Amino acid sequence: MTIKSKHITAVEHRIARQARCARNRHRSGVLWLTGLSGSGKTTLALGLEHLLFNRGWQVYVLDGDNVRHGLSSDLGFAPKDRTENIRRIGEVAALFADAGLLVLTAFISPYRADRAVARKAARGDFHEIYLQANVAACEERDPKGLYAKARRGEIPDFTGISAPYEAPDRSELTIDTAATTVEHSLAVLHAYVERNFALGDRPVA
Ligand SMILES: Nc1ncnc2c1ncn2[C@@H]1O[C@H](COP(=O)(O)OP(=O)(O)O)[C@@H](O)[C@H]1O
Ligand SMILES: [Mg+2]
Repeated sequence: MTIKSKHITAVEHRIARQARCARNRHRSGVLWLTGLSGSGKTTLALGLEHLLFNRGWQVYVLDGDNVRHGLSSDLGFAPKDRTENIRRIGEVAALFADAGLLVLTAFISPYRADRAVARKAARGDFHEIYLQANVAACEERDPKGLYAKARRGEIPDFTGISAPYEAPDRSELTIDTAATTVEHSLAVLHAYVERNFALGDRPVA
């Protein structure tokens, strides 16, 4: 995105991101969960946050519904609004990562191009995690009754029913949540995080 004012200069932090990560004993970055409604984004993000927090990690979840109450309360679900929603979240997630946190995001984020914008905002520390459950499986779960409402025509632009979902073509990790349990999916995610973000053993206090 272009900056509107010509009179803006970035300030340098006196604390480097590496110093924050060294203190936390883990790298920071963005774990971007994408998938249909009901694919398990919230379940797995909250489960992983809990697990990592209990191990002393600096971790935070940004979730679709929460963000739409505040940061994006002025946006709807038309393509232009979805794009702007994801752009904002991508920037916020990048700031959190800069602050030394591992950020877990749980947004349908149906457009490939929008996820690419979020990836760019995180400048390399971005891991796209595709929760690959098909519409039939998600509709069968329908944890919030949204598919039933969408089928009745009560929700316009519902991803998978009346709005498109563009599956990732370069995700760092894919989990078929329709074929595995929550526990197994969590274990796969946790192993991925340990492999990619852990910085050796914690010093004994
Ligand atoms: N392997 C799995 N991973 C995540 N969720 C699963 C899995 N298997 C079954 N589920 C169930 O699917 C539902 C996913 O809902 P939710 O996490 O709210 O999805 P989303 O946030 O993607 O809309 C939950 O009821 C969860 O218990
Ligand atoms: Mg959710």
